[in-house]
Amino acid sequence: MTHPTPASSPVIAIDGPSASGKGTVAQLVARELGFHYLDSGALYRLLALAALKRGMALDDENGVSELAEKVAIRFENGEILLDGETVTEAIRTEACGNGASKIAALPAVRAALLDLQRSFRQAPGLVADGRDMGSVVFPDAVVKVFLTASAEIRAERRVKQLMEKGMGDSISPLQILQDIRSRDERDSARSVAPLQQCADASLLDTSALSIDAAVAAVLERYRAAC
Ligand code: DC
Repeated sequence: MTHPTPASSPVIAIDGPSASGKGTVAQLVARELGFHYLDSGALYRLLALAALKRGMALDDENGVSELAEKVAIRFENGEILLDGETVTEAIRTEACGNGASKIAALPAVRAALLDLQRSFRQAPGLVADGRDMGSVVFPDAVVKVFLTASAEIRAERRVKQLMEKGMGDSISPLQILQDIRSRDERDSARSVAPLQQCADASLLDTSALSIDAAVAAVLERYRAAC
């Protein structure tokens, strides 16, 4: 990222549950508009990985939030680096996803990641995906989309994604569906920034939509809002 941010750079907030396709859609929308992209889930995953590597308990709120200030996180040429080590693939494991969901329930951890997330707001604009982009991190986002799909469809997509990454050997589709359901439950039930469609977000259910159709729908909402 190059220039300091005018606070007015537009933000498109795309929130939704795990494996809804929001990351893919958000990246394609960002590419289409020439905007920056923030994968906020990756930050929670990075922090969970850093905590796991240090053998920390994932409910150690003080320890994990302090760790957020210490770790060096870099996004470079499509790769993600943690303390100088490339962890682009490592953070995508189910263990990291579940760990991320656990630390994401801790208020001090969410607070510790707030400024870092906001620093991604750079000209000419930002597409941010996560759970609380529209509700907490960028409440003045010009467009807020709650992008979802049924748990079964999301589990199917996750299985396909893991197979494509060569991580298919050890997976159980039923386990993936159960993980998605319990992660939805934990993300929705937590007291801070729970996963929910905020009042000013519009719903986009992608259960029966292609990626292209979902991208077109977000772009249409953005253009209508400008
Ligand atoms: O989007 P993801 O599956 O990579 O996110 C991993 C976990 O991080 C998810 O279970 C919930 C949490 N998360 C969050 O609480 N808030 C965000 N803005 C993004 C992710």
